[in-house]
Amino acid sequence: MASRLAAALLLAVVALLTSVAPLACGQAASAPSPAPAPPKTITAILSKAGQFTKFLQLLQSTREAEQITNQLKGKPSNGGLTVFAPPDSAFSALPAGTLNSLSDQQKTSLVQFHVVSAALPAAQLETVSNPLRTQAGDTGRGKYPLNLTADGSSVNVSTGVVNATLDATPLYAGDRLVVYQVSKVLLPWALYGPPVPAPAPSPAESKKKKKATPDAVADAPAAETAAGTTTASAAARAGGTPAGVRAASSCVVALAAVAALWWAI
Ligand SMILES: *[C@@H]1O[C@H](CO)[C@@H](O)[C@H](O)[C@H]1NC(C)=O
Ligand SMILES: *[C@@H]1O[C@H](CO)[C@@H](O)[C@H](O)[C@H]1NC(C)=O
Ligand SMILES: *[C@@H]1O[C@H](CO)[C@@H](O)[C@H](O)[C@H]1NC(C)=O
Repeated sequence: MASRLAAALLLAVVALLTSVAPLACGQAASAPSPAPAPPKTITAILSKAGQFTKFLQLLQSTREAEQITNQLKGKPSNGGLTVFAPPDSAFSALPAGTLNSLSDQQKTSLVQFHVVSAALPAAQLETVSNPLRTQAGDTGRGKYPLNLTADGSSVNVSTGVVNATLDATPLYAGDRLVVYQVSKVLLPWALYGPPVPAPAPSPAESKKKKKATPDAVADAPAAETAAGTTTASAAARAGGTPAGVRAASSCVVALAAVAALWWAI
């Protein structure tokens, strides 16, 4: 009688374990380490938004899309990027031949001029200090200066050659990448402005206190950090594995226990 009761209890336990074990094992198998979602690429963002075919072509032909992606993979201290993306209508509004006259290097500079070397969420647009530094480099007179003025309702962008407006609601706002639509192709002074005469030092000019620009220091594009990133993500993946192994092995133990119980009966 007692042994029958024991057997019945064992059967009940076994039945319970048998029904629970596949559940636990299924979970272990289908739940890999929680990897952070990869940041969206500029290409993915603009493709999804539509109407940016021409700018996307330029981003790709100049390899700037790749450059942006690599740069965002780098250390967070890089500070992020803001892209001002002109839609196709902005390109069609350009006089014929505006872009054809550019060399490959100049096309790269043009595209880089649309990428500000800092992540600027909408709330920060009103407090930027001009000129903004872009990936095109030198913000000096006659080079690649870009000014932004915002007053809550409107955001204006000026290159000295064109005045454009920014759609203040970003197309995309990530921690390190913010993308806005800009109404016009931002033609930089260095490529489209009138030649700037060499500054003849007048008495008035020399009196004007010239603030030393920190821009001059960091002219080199700061994008080559891909190597560090690869290691980091490999480490992240490696870090995820032990958890999976543990889950799998506890699963094996549970199944072994079930088998042992059956055997005992
Ligand atoms: C932007 O430009 C328009 C037209 O020039 C002007 O009316 C508006 O006040 C400007 N907004 C800012 C914030 O400068
Ligand atoms: C941009 O802003 C700077 C600093 O306020 C000013 O000196 C410069 O003339 C402006 N350039 C343009 C194109 O608006
Ligand atoms: C841009 O705006 C400024 C200030 O509103 C104006 O002085 C300048 O002529 C404009 N430039 C162009 C190319 O429209």
